[in-house]
Amino acid sequence: MARKKSITISYTEYDTTDQLENSDKLLIEEAVEAAGNAYAPYSNFRVGAAIRLEGGTIVKGVNVENAAFPSGICAERSAIAAVVSSYPDQKPVAIAIAALTDNGLTDEPVTPCGNCRQVMAEEESRTGSQIKIILSGKKKTIIIESIKSLLPLQFSKNSLKFTPLL
Ligand code: THU
Repeated sequence: MARKKSITISYTEYDTTDQLENSDKLLIEEAVEAAGNAYAPYSNFRVGAAIRLEGGTIVKGVNVENAAFPSGICAERSAIAAVVSSYPDQKPVAIAIAALTDNGLTDEPVTPCGNCRQVMAEEESRTGSQIKIILSGKKKTIIIESIKSLLPLQFSKNSLKFTPLL
């Protein structure tokens, strides 16, 4: 017996950030500002992430590259590591991501890489709370309500529970 299944994701696209809530607009500005601090001499693609915690605190992260390429880290994961390091008991409610190239903010929003999606999924699982994802470029901004939409069929702590064969 075979069952064909499909998964639909939904998100909202905005033409300008004027249509966003003020707190989300501010979070994008923080992400852009953080991107200016990125250490990305190899790709020249500077990414900033800004996380708003439930109490309103904003925690930022940037990509930090390395001559040994796999040792570099993305902005999203460095921001989450900063949250867990300094505010382990405050739930992230939103993350804004933005990237700068030589021409300034990218035209299109940057979507997180697979590694970062997995780490964001773990953060939602750790805190038991969904994180709004705000991706912003010059031409448009995308808002996704939870990492679940960006990482369907996710590997999680439940995946580690297995039924012994015996
Ligand atoms: N990068 C991020 O920091 N976040 C993303 O969502 C995509 C990629 C970084 C990794 C690397 O330093 C550079 O951007 C080019 O891939």
